[in-house]
Amino acid sequence: MSVLESVATAREAVEAGYTLPAAWYADPAVVELERSRIFARSWQYVGRSGDVAEPGQFVSGMAGHVPVVAVRGRDGELRGFVNVCRHRGHIVASGCGRRETLQCPYHAWTYGLDGSLRKAPRSEREPGFDLGEWSLLPVAVGTWGPFLFANPDPAAAPLVDALGDLPDVVAGSGVDVGDLRFRERREWTAAANWKVGIENYLECYHCSVAHPSFSKLIDVDPDQYQLRTAPTYSVQLGPIRETALTGERRGIPYVPSRDVARAQYHFLWPNITINIEPGPINLGIDVWLPDGAGATVGYSDQFFGPDVTEDQAREVMEFGQQVADEDTDLVISVQRGLSSGMVPHGRLLLSSEGLIQHFARLVVDALE
Ligand code: FES
Ligand SMILES: [Fe+2]
Repeated sequence: MSVLESVATAREAVEAGYTLPAAWYADPAVVELERSRIFARSWQYVGRSGDVAEPGQFVSGMAGHVPVVAVRGRDGELRGFVNVCRHRGHIVASGCGRRETLQCPYHAWTYGLDGSLRKAPRSEREPGFDLGEWSLLPVAVGTWGPFLFANPDPAAAPLVDALGDLPDVVAGSGVDVGDLRFRERREWTAAANWKVGIENYLECYHCSVAHPSFSKLIDVDPDQYQLRTAPTYSVQLGPIRETALTGERRGIPYVPSRDVARAQYHFLWPNITINIEPGPINLGIDVWLPDGAGATVGYSDQFFGPDVTEDQAREVMEFGQQVADEDTDLVISVQRGLSSGMVPHGRLLLSSEGLIQHFARLVVDALE
């Protein structure tokens, strides 16, 4: 059965409380379909909007599998382009910085900040060569506070539509995104399909089993730990355990200050997760990018409030790292299990794993 034929079956299975078909986590044909139907048309976090605040500044990054560059023009407009040279495909801009023009390092084709091709050395020797035909291709760009997003589809609905009221939910944590300062980016890989990683993120059923330290800080009891869904995102709300606040319980990862009173874990379709831990003003945003069927590459940008000390920030980041390391072991194991092909569907416990069903529906909708 082809992937497309199996979409209708998958939908029925998902509605009945099963997982997506195991083959969808291991089949290269699904990766191809996800490229065109999910990643080529969805909003992706690519970097910090503060790096393109002033005219001439640019930021390069990846929107799914598409290299992109966002540029603040002389006119103050923020524009986005496919960061691939129209000559023979070299990546045009690397990192971030400030430029008068964007020059490809391969043969020095030079583009204006508006994406137009200004100069192609020796092109005057070519009869009929028209610079005007070789502008960088446009992509959509948008910002939310310190976060810069791009969408490979230049005709995409604006970022605000994709976010919905997620900014209000984030603000409800006590974190004002406009006040955040970037601290560091961590890059990571995991030998598991990107959806395995997202689904692991979307439930805390495994927390008391697999994250004992985390579970001493955050109340993972199903009657306390809340799950919410919205059309384009979902949220997990985890209260702090009273015993963690007083510091009297042994083995708590840190004693949280009360600036942020609970954990909030947000998933934004299709592959962005936003973590707010209890304690000092903090926010981490992660991007999970498919690297073939059986691997994910990702990065996490960590932000803190302006008054958060280095020690406080370190505590929160080490806590996040420990949980991430524990999760990496889990998802690698799941990938090996799914790749066996011997267990075609898993069975969700919807009261605890409802956010996985929500995600699976979005995947099926996108692939249909
Ligand atoms: S590939 Fe960019 S100038 Fe040749
Ligand atoms: Fe986990």
